[in-house]
Amino acid sequence: MRKQLVVGNWKMNKNLQEGIDLCRSIMSQTPTSSRELVLAAPFIHLTTLVETSKTSNLKIAAQNCHQELSGAYTGEVSAAMLADIGVSYVILGHSERRTYQKESNALLAKKTDTALAQNLKVIYCFGETLQDRQSNRHFDLIKTQVTEGLFHLPSSAIKNIVLAYEPVWAIGTGETATSAQAQEMHTYIRKVLAAKYGEEIAENTSILYGGSCNPLNAKELFNQTDVDGGLIGGASLNSEDFLTISKA
Ligand code: PGA
Repeated sequence: MRKQLVVGNWKMNKNLQEGIDLCRSIMSQTPTSSRELVLAAPFIHLTTLVETSKTSNLKIAAQNCHQELSGAYTGEVSAAMLADIGVSYVILGHSERRTYQKESNALLAKKTDTALAQNLKVIYCFGETLQDRQSNRHFDLIKTQVTEGLFHLPSSAIKNIVLAYEPVWAIGTGETATSAQAQEMHTYIRKVLAAKYGEEIAENTSILYGGSCNPLNAKELFNQTDVDGGLIGGASLNSEDFLTISKA
C-alpha cells in the first residue's frame, strides 16, 4: 500500500523560535496521525528542527537544493549538506521556484539526480496555470513536467519520489481544485507513470495534492482514491490547522 503523507511547506515564514514551537506543538500530537508528517522549513532552521524532532516520527524537508554537490555557487545549499544534517526530504520544482527562479524541467531533473544520490527523498512538484487549464493544455503540460523532470530515472529510483500536483491557480489563492478535478488529474498522472514504469510502481507511488488545502476541504480531497495526502502552504503555519488536515 502506498504511503500517505501530509507535508507542511513553510516557505519563507517563521523565525527560528517560532519554527521550534510549531514543530514541538505538532510533535506532541503526531502519534494520532496515520500519515507521515513532514515539515519543509527554511534552510537555516533545518539543523535545529532535525534535532528537535528526532524522538518523533516527524520528518524534516528542505524546500530546495542545488544541482551540484559543492563548489563556487554563492548563496546555494547542496543536497550533500542537507543529507549530512539528517534532512529526509527535499521539495523540488515548486511553482514559486519555477516562476521566480525560472527553474526548468531539465534543471529539476539534475537536482533530482543529485538529491537521490545523497539518499534524500524528493517531493517533485508540478502544476498548470489557469491559462493552461482554460485552453485545455493542462494534461499535456503535466505530462511534460513529470516526463522531463523524472522519466530519465530507473524504476528502482521511483520509490524515493513523491509527486505533488499543485495547480498554480490554487496556490495561496484560496481557490482549491474540486475533489473531482484533483482525482481526475491524479488518475491521469498515475496512468502516465504506469505507461513508463508499469502498474505496480504507479500504484505504489504517492501523489499529493497542493493548493489552498485547509481543514475544511482536506477530508474531501484526501478521500479521493488517487490523492495520497497533501502539500500544505498557508495552513501549515498553524499547528491546529496542520494537525486537523493531517487527520482529515
Ligand atoms: P497553499 O500553498 O496551501 O498556501 O496554497 C501550497 C504550496 O505552495 O505548497
